[in-house]
Amino acid sequence: MQPTLYSTLADVLAALKALTNDPLAGAGTNIVISRGNPNAKLLLVGEAPGPQENIKGKPFVGPAGQLLDKILQAAKFDPERDVYIINSVFRMPPGENGANFRKPNDAEIDFYRPYVFEIIRLVNPRVILLTGNVACQSILQKTGITTLRGKWIQMDGRWVMPIYHPSYLLRNQSREAGSPKAQMWDDIRAARKKYDELTGAA
Ligand code: URA
Repeated sequence: MQPTLYSTLADVLAALKALTNDPLAGAGTNIVISRGNPNAKLLLVGEAPGPQENIKGKPFVGPAGQLLDKILQAAKFDPERDVYIINSVFRMPPGENGANFRKPNDAEIDFYRPYVFEIIRLVNPRVILLTGNVACQSILQKTGITTLRGKWIQMDGRWVMPIYHPSYLLRNQSREAGSPKAQMWDDIRAARKKYDELTGAA
């Protein structure tokens, strides 16, 4: 259990927006926090903003976000009404060796973790989806997405499931049985079932 730091979601969001001492402040990239419904019972945690998210100020609005919305919609979740979407790291890590951006490192994930936990506590979702290894590292402090995916973990009265990151699916397009896409479909259906059981929204 993480320490309680803020009274309201608005307070956490304001504190994040005011950050000047975070490890990515010097990168000059924008603070990007959330999209969707703060009263949603389903919360999804991503990795970090990419270039499009950095420009638009919202998570998952680039190609991975478009695929994420399709996956949610396939399970009859409305991404704006039924889900609150955040990341593990709230600024885009700047690229190295000519790349636009890079994966967040351990220190960055550690720094933003208390904010992620405070957002979760104050939004109070019943079901949480962790997309990819960075979100697993932030919330579960372990990685190994191919083993962790599709398995429920109970945490502080919530049901948490790691799933693949949509960027991984963009790189693995096969739909054959046992492919990452087929596994994602199994996982999102399992999430829908759990959500319906817990919220009575059949
Ligand atoms: N990938 C993420 O994990 N988060 C975003 O906001 C965009 C891409």
